[in-house]
Amino acid sequence: MPKARKIVIASQFEGEPKITDFKIEAEELRALQDGQILCEAEYISVDPFQRSSTHKHKVGSTMVGAQVARILDSRSLEYPVGRHVVGYWGCRDRTVVDPTPAADDILPPMLVPDIGDLPLSLSLGVLGMPGATAYFGLLHICHPKPGETVVVNGAAGAVGSIVGQIARIKGCKVIGIAGSDLKVKWLKEELGFDHAINYKTANVDKALKEAAPGGVDVFFDNVGGEQFDVVISNMRKGGRISLCGFISSYNESKLPKMPAIHMHMIGRELRMEGFMVSRWWGRWDQAFTEMAQWIREGKLKYRETVTEGFQNTPRAFIGMLRGENLGKAVVKV
Ligand SMILES: NC(=O)c1ccc[n+]([C@@H]2O[C@H](COP(=O)([O-])OP(=O)(O)OC[C@H]3O[C@@H](n4cnc5c(N)ncnc54)[C@H](OP(=O)(O)O)[C@@H]3O)[C@@H](O)[C@H]2O)c1
Repeated sequence: MPKARKIVIASQFEGEPKITDFKIEAEELRALQDGQILCEAEYISVDPFQRSSTHKHKVGSTMVGAQVARILDSRSLEYPVGRHVVGYWGCRDRTVVDPTPAADDILPPMLVPDIGDLPLSLSLGVLGMPGATAYFGLLHICHPKPGETVVVNGAAGAVGSIVGQIARIKGCKVIGIAGSDLKVKWLKEELGFDHAINYKTANVDKALKEAAPGGVDVFFDNVGGEQFDVVISNMRKGGRISLCGFISSYNESKLPKMPAIHMHMIGRELRMEGFMVSRWWGRWDQAFTEMAQWIREGKLKYRETVTEGFQNTPRAFIGMLRGENLGKAVVKV
C-alpha cells in the first residue's frame, strides 16, 4: 500500500495559529477491507471551522478539514474507482476511508455529481459546504424579498460573496462589509453589490446609514463582535438576522460580552436564528443544481484563492484567517 502525508497539530494554538503549530508526518496505509475506499486528495479546503473547532485540536492529532479526492481503489460498489468524493477526513493526501460516517458531527463522504466543465475545486466552495451555507442560511432563515436591503459581512469570502449574489438574484439591494479596498472594488465592480464598505478604514455605522437610510431588512452575520453591534442597531422593524459565524473571535481565548440587543430585538420586532449548514444535508444537491445553473447563466460568479502544494496547507489556512483570500481559499495538492 502507498504512504500518506498528513498535517498534524504540533502545538496548541494560542491566538493566531503559527506555521510552527503544524508538522507533516508520513503514515503507512493499511490494506483495504470490504466496503472501504482509497482516496487521493486533489484539493484541500481551508475553512474557519478548522480554527473554531478547538476541542479537536489535540496535539498529535491530524488537522480537521475537508477535501475533494479521487477514488484510487475501492471495495465498495457505491464508491467506484475514478469517481471524486468530498470527505471530512482531515488534511491528508491519501486516506483509506470507511464511507460509513464515524461520528454524528462528521458529514458522510459525498460523491461529486457531474458538474460538466466547471472546476472540481468548486465542490469545496460554491458547489460545496460554503455554497450550501450561503443558500440555506440566507433563503431558508431570512426569506429575502425583492426590494429589501440585505447586509452581509465577510462579504468577499467563500460564504459572504455567494450570500450577496443570491440576494441580488432575488431582487434585493445588497451591502457588503469586507476588509480591504481590493475586496470592496471586487464586490461592487464584478459581483454587482450595490454598496461595499471597508471595515478597516471606514466608519461602518456612518457608511451603513448612508447606504441604507431606511434601515436594514436582512443581516447575514459571518463575523460577530463589533460589526454585529453596528448592523443590529441599523435594522428596520421586522428585520431578520441569520447567525452564521463569528470569525472576529475565533483567535480569541476570551469571547467578547454580548452587546445590549434587547432594545433592538424587542423595539423593532427582529427575528434572529443561528444555524449549522448540516441541518439541510439531505437537500444540498438541490442548492447545487440551482447554483450551477446560475453560474452557467452568468448570474453567479465565483473566485478562488489557490495555494499550490499540500505542504503549504498551514500557510493557506493562516492566510485565510488573516483575510488574504478573495472568494474561497483552497490548496491544490
Ligand atoms: N454555520 C455554519 O454552518 C457555517 C458554515 C460555513 C461557514 N460558517 C462561518 O461563515 C463565516 C465565513 O466562512 P468562509 O468559509 O466564507 O470564510 P471566508 O470568509 O472565505 O474567510 C474568512 C474571512 O474572514 C474575515 N475575517 C477574518 N478575521 C476577521 C475579523 N477579525 N473581523 C472581520 N472579518 C474577519 C477575512 O476577510 P476580511 O478581509 O473581510 O477581514 C477572511 O477572508 C465564518 O464565520 C464561518 O465560521 C458557518
